[in-house]
Amino acid sequence: MRMLVVGAGATGGYFGGRLAEAGRNVSFLLRPGRAAALRADGLRISSPSGDVTIQPRIVQAGAIDGRYDAVLLTVKSFSLDQAIEDMTPAVGPGTMILPVLNGMRHVDQLRMRFWADTVAGCVCKIAATLDDAGRILHLAPVHDLAYSEMDGRPSDRMAALDEFVRGAGFDATLSPSIERQMWEKWILLAALGAIGCLMRGTVGEIEAAPGGTRFVLALLDEVVSIVRTVGTPPSEAFLVAARTQLTAKGSSFTSSMYRDLQKGLRLEADQILGDLLLRGDRAGVAAPLLGAAYANLSVFQARPASS
Ligand SMILES: NC(=O)c1ccc[n+]([C@@H]2O[C@H](COP(=O)([O-])OP(=O)(O)OC[C@H]3O[C@@H](n4cnc5c(N)ncnc54)[C@H](OP(=O)(O)O)[C@@H]3O)[C@@H](O)[C@H]2O)c1
Repeated sequence: MRMLVVGAGATGGYFGGRLAEAGRNVSFLLRPGRAAALRADGLRISSPSGDVTIQPRIVQAGAIDGRYDAVLLTVKSFSLDQAIEDMTPAVGPGTMILPVLNGMRHVDQLRMRFWADTVAGCVCKIAATLDDAGRILHLAPVHDLAYSEMDGRPSDRMAALDEFVRGAGFDATLSPSIERQMWEKWILLAALGAIGCLMRGTVGEIEAAPGGTRFVLALLDEVVSIVRTVGTPPSEAFLVAARTQLTAKGSSFTSSMYRDLQKGLRLEADQILGDLLLRGDRAGVAAPLLGAAYANLSVFQARPASS
């Protein structure tokens, strides 16, 4: 199997880097700046599972070396349109695209652009970021990649992918319920992102505030109501765990959206909050708290970067 990893940021650099370290046939599609940095310094991972520097195989838009069997798509939602254009020569009717993006809008975009069954289900669980030197910092031991055909049916290409990614230094799972996992991850991220950004705090700080827990559970209920109406309903076990995680006393848990907000970085608010609200709106599900969080972030995002 030949895999193209689109992007070598936190997720692409980590999972692609581990695959390359394990000797898998992986190339990275990079833009000029990141390509030059990786050619100069290598792809550097700092992780509780072991630090590593690899010299990655790099390709660039306009010079893609044929079709790939799999594409691991690891750009942020606001970079998706250009990434789709750039990776198109790598995608043929036999290619499967595994997007690690959160939310579901990208699935529709990819399905419209390529063949209907090109997109496979994929969920990555990791806390990772880039430092100022471009190193990938893996921040906690979790490093899970789950994947499957969207409807969970067994297929030869998934069996081949499973063989390719297993044993490459992270937890890899061929999931029987990937679509539900994708919706569940969206629920958690939307709720965590909305409460953190609106309240400007960690889970523990919000829990300690008057009415904090009531607010969190009400917002979570809104998100779950939308998903139950327009998506794949979450399991009861997931909901119990989500309620506990989002209201834990003293917890320092925050979303990457809140961390990005603090750093003044561009946010995936449209993909994670806006798209969910839109789907809810169309189905007649009211979500005033989620709407307030999205309006709040939209004000922030509309400001010029320097103000
Ligand atoms: N970080 C996490 O812990 C985590 C966990 C789970 C899921 N996710 C999700 O995974 C997705 C990726 O997040 P991330 O944290 O990995 O983002 P990231 O660190 O910002 O990395 C994204 C990379 O995509 C590259 N890129 C953008 N457009 C490109 C193009 N046209 N061609 C090639 N490369 C391109 C960027 O490269 P340049 O240097 O050229 O800008 C950047 O290095 C997001 O949707 C996020 O929500 C992240």
